[in-house]
Amino acid sequence: MKPTDWRSSVVYQIYPRSFCDSNGDGIGDLPGITAKLDHLQQLGVDVVWLSPIYASPQDDNGYDIADYRAIAPEFGTMADFDAMLAGMHQRGLRLMMDLVVNHTSDEHAWFQQARSSRDNPYHDYYLWREPAPDGGPPNNWEAAFQGSVWEWNEPTGEYYLHMFSKKQPDLNWENPRVRQEVYALMRFWLDKGVDGFRMDVINMISKPWNADGSLPNAPVVRDGFLQPGFAMTCNGPRLLEFLREMCLEVLDHYDTLTVGEAPMATVTVGQALTHPETGALNMLFQFEHMDLDIAPGQAVGKWVTQPLDLRDLQQSMARWQNGLHGQGWNSLYLSNHDQPRPVSRWGDDGVHRVAAAKMLATWLHGHQGTPYVYQGEELGMPNYPFATINDCRDIESINFYQVATRQLGWTDGQAMAAIRAKGRDNARVPVAWDATAHGGFTQGTPWIDSHPNAEQFHAQGQYGDVDSVFHHYQRLIALRKQHPVLVHGRYELLPSSHPRVSAYRRLWVDQCLWVVTNFSAEPVTVTLPERMASGQTLIGHGAEALTPGMSTLALQPYGAIMVLGQT
Ligand code: GLC
Ligand code: CA
Repeated sequence: MKPTDWRSSVVYQIYPRSFCDSNGDGIGDLPGITAKLDHLQQLGVDVVWLSPIYASPQDDNGYDIADYRAIAPEFGTMADFDAMLAGMHQRGLRLMMDLVVNHTSDEHAWFQQARSSRDNPYHDYYLWREPAPDGGPPNNWEAAFQGSVWEWNEPTGEYYLHMFSKKQPDLNWENPRVRQEVYALMRFWLDKGVDGFRMDVINMISKPWNADGSLPNAPVVRDGFLQPGFAMTCNGPRLLEFLREMCLEVLDHYDTLTVGEAPMATVTVGQALTHPETGALNMLFQFEHMDLDIAPGQAVGKWVTQPLDLRDLQQSMARWQNGLHGQGWNSLYLSNHDQPRPVSRWGDDGVHRVAAAKMLATWLHGHQGTPYVYQGEELGMPNYPFATINDCRDIESINFYQVATRQLGWTDGQAMAAIRAKGRDNARVPVAWDATAHGGFTQGTPWIDSHPNAEQFHAQGQYGDVDSVFHHYQRLIALRKQHPVLVHGRYELLPSSHPRVSAYRRLWVDQCLWVVTNFSAEPVTVTLPERMASGQTLIGHGAEALTPGMSTLALQPYGAIMVLGQT
């Protein structure tokens, strides 16, 4: 299969556990994915990013891998995988696997060996440190899922580093044998015919060693607590060197598509990693826009929110759009398995749900880069009304709830409100396929409750409805194939006459593409950018029809319009 130019591709993310269950055990699986490939083909996407399906104790839903070459039995067999991949290739879909190699599971054979003794040949595959003089952890870093990043290992009398849960020990990328193991497992999947990788927290692989081999304390930003460790491990000193080596050893020998997940990446990091000549990855996921609604300076990071100021979002996007134009490549996302549903977060999941879902999609897909659609986003699925912590399955939410209510004095109500707003399980409830029980996801009992309002947004109800969110995504994806300005055009942020209205344009040869979107539940009238009135509307909803000479534009709540014209 020869890929089309990946720059005009659209990627669809599948979180296998929640996509489609074929055998009634309540867990989504590979045959379930194979059964739904027509949905993806109809949507028009080109590439699938599949979240981890490897053997795993599922402490972090598969982002803790025990065997990189085996399929988790709950997801199926290697034969099921081969059938799924063949089904994708038949439809011209490419498959990007999730490559989780900043850490393994503590149940991986390497770690089992490594932890048994200091002399074991695998010991140096992981990161071990002596206790601090008081016997406590070697430094002050806090793990992503609460607590210290250091866990005591009795058999060797040392601590090991885990940036995520204690069942996810970090690999020692300084060890060339570790790197060769990673390259070998990448070749294993590429030789099977997969088309690339989404690389989990890939910018955390190079740790900031001190000359004496210790890892420096993080600066104190909150008194009396552990300090965020991420700031210390992201974008480390040997990151680009390791990734270049990965290209030379593996990626350059195959026709691959790669995207690196890169928390705390700046535009400069983005340029370095994705530069067409000197970079190492096709694109990366940066987090700047995802962090704009987090209140600064809190002990619990993402859980304390502030309203999004659209102007911050615009400024951030503009910096990335302009910074990477010709110097790298953006990935465009509002949604994945780690984020709440965008329609609930930055739109409206009540009366305006459909309009808000379409508006956010129009806004996102108008930018330069590769759009990512996360399962259920194309249906306008909203957040889930988690009532108690027992409704939640995610280790991050569960650990946060314990710390917040036991150590920080939060009430149950406060903690649950935070989880409803930001919890990752919002994105992990089953995809709503039809009007049958559990939205048609399973014949059994789902591993996490299905959405109580599935009847409002299941796929079956949208296929025949040209005004549906699904059809809107279909049209946006088709537009990217038809109009090179969407792929190649330079971005320009336009002044907006309203704080809740976004306006930008894209410029390519003599073409100009305008995108104007209303991020509010109020009808608004804005000044029309110059020359936009004489363009042709490519897609729009809740927007006044354009007539030449018009100088203002009325937009309904969450209305949006994309117009193609001349510069
Ligand atoms: C990434 C994944 C997330 C996981 C973490 C640890 O951020 O997207 O789901 O928990 O890495 O692997
Ligand atoms: Ca199943």
